[in-house]
Amino acid sequence: MNVLMVSSEATPFAKSGGLADAVSALSRSLRRAGHDVRLVLPRYYGVDKAALRAVPGPLGVPMGQGEEWASVLEGTLPGCDAPVYFIDHEGFFGREGIYGSKSETDYADNPRRFSFFARAAFQLCRKLGWYPDVMHAHDWPSALVPVYRRFTETGPEFEHTSTVLTIHNLGYQGVYPKGSFPYFGLPWDLFHGAGFEYYDAVNMLKAGLTCADMLSTVSPTYAREIQMPELGCSLDGLLRARSARLVGILNGVDLDDWNPATDALLPARYTAADLSGKAACKRALQLEFGLPVDGGKPVIGMVSRLTDQKGVGELFGPAYGCAAPLCRDMDLQFAVMGSGDDWCERELASLSSRLPNFKAWIGYSERLAHLVEAGSDFFMMPSRYEPCGLNQMYSLRYGTLPIVHRTGGLADTVSNYDQDTGSGTGFMLDHQTPRAIYDTAGWAVWAWYNRPGHITAMRERAMAQEFSWDKAAREYVALYGTAADPAAR
Ligand code: ADP
Ligand code: GLC
Repeated sequence: MNVLMVSSEATPFAKSGGLADAVSALSRSLRRAGHDVRLVLPRYYGVDKAALRAVPGPLGVPMGQGEEWASVLEGTLPGCDAPVYFIDHEGFFGREGIYGSKSETDYADNPRRFSFFARAAFQLCRKLGWYPDVMHAHDWPSALVPVYRRFTETGPEFEHTSTVLTIHNLGYQGVYPKGSFPYFGLPWDLFHGAGFEYYDAVNMLKAGLTCADMLSTVSPTYAREIQMPELGCSLDGLLRARSARLVGILNGVDLDDWNPATDALLPARYTAADLSGKAACKRALQLEFGLPVDGGKPVIGMVSRLTDQKGVGELFGPAYGCAAPLCRDMDLQFAVMGSGDDWCERELASLSSRLPNFKAWIGYSERLAHLVEAGSDFFMMPSRYEPCGLNQMYSLRYGTLPIVHRTGGLADTVSNYDQDTGSGTGFMLDHQTPRAIYDTAGWAVWAWYNRPGHITAMRERAMAQEFSWDKAAREYVALYGTAADPAAR
């Protein structure tokens, strides 16, 4: 199949979270299976132009009532030979941030930037003379692809092109003032007709969900949860209406990047059969974070965007968060890394200065993320909701037992400890409250000191888990097949 991935993020070019990992890994697996997969991304300042070649000639893109001009650069996805095309438009993408900056967290012109990007994807195909069987869009930034395919790109070139929209996170919908609508270059009757209308504002994701041939999300449990009010983010009704077109496909783990036996970012490598390298990683982690070096103390690690979704309020909220009592009451160490909300970054610094067994590192570092995954004994991920979650899967593969809320992809990838039989791969809480996180972490620490045999067996079981992108890719190919079926449209 010819597949064009239209995404605002893909590793190693542009990343704010797991979306970037998922798009690249899925593309590689599809390419390995013999499909002609290509990617299109915006060229942000973070993308190194020197490593790319220019595709000759300008790219004219209809915008609003007029036209904008861009150029196209071409690179290759590492680990395979899939072409990656970058839409180079200085005014829209000549910035450091993908969606915003520290001072303007959501750029006001995002509706223009990303509607331009969606239309540019079609113009790119014309320029290349290459027409995909499927255009696969991801989250709100590329959600207008299915809308344009349905209402403006109706000519013979795209006649055989169907659209799939994957929801990586329903919490971000691209909602902007109604006054943004004219930028999209669509007639006003489509404000309602294409599903843009959302409490008298424009909702880009909602329009995409209305118009795509098929919808998917990144775990089976999340696919069910988003059809109910609690996690449906006000779109549960629409998703219920389209439930026959919605599937949940679990993300995988990219073993080229996340394999403790070969991980070049670690000070030592290890396998389930020989965990001595893991002990070395734990020492390195304790040293690097300024925690007392002690192999006998359980280390709870955390790598996260510091935002409400991830449970940082319940953990670190001043006065009510459970991390401080946890560190005071129990014989453990807590190593946190991440960046995000200002209040949380400040609170983490304050906790680090007050508690000898709590240390935080604020910032973004691939190397440290790998060290925390490898060097910790437990991994804290009590997300309020989690479409899939990659970090808990990385943890399992690194023999680091996750402490998770039973939600979304966390529920699909971790199985709860049973202290009678010793079965399970992690520790789960049913209600996401500070108290439950405290109790569940306490339970893990109890098992560490009192049931070491169980911990060893759980580690082995966790490291043997397979989260295969090739399996996910096969499910996506089946989904593309359904999308192409005119009866399904
Ligand atoms: P989300 O996409 O919602 O943030 P995921 O678990 O799917 O959650 O993916 C998070 C990805 O971002 C992982 O690859 C993780 O290692 C990475 N990550 C998050 N924060 C940092 C950080 N501060 N430094 C390095 N990598 C990070
Ligand atoms: C989003 C979700 C996360 C998921 C990732 C990749 O960022 O928050 O749960 O793993 O997308 O699909």
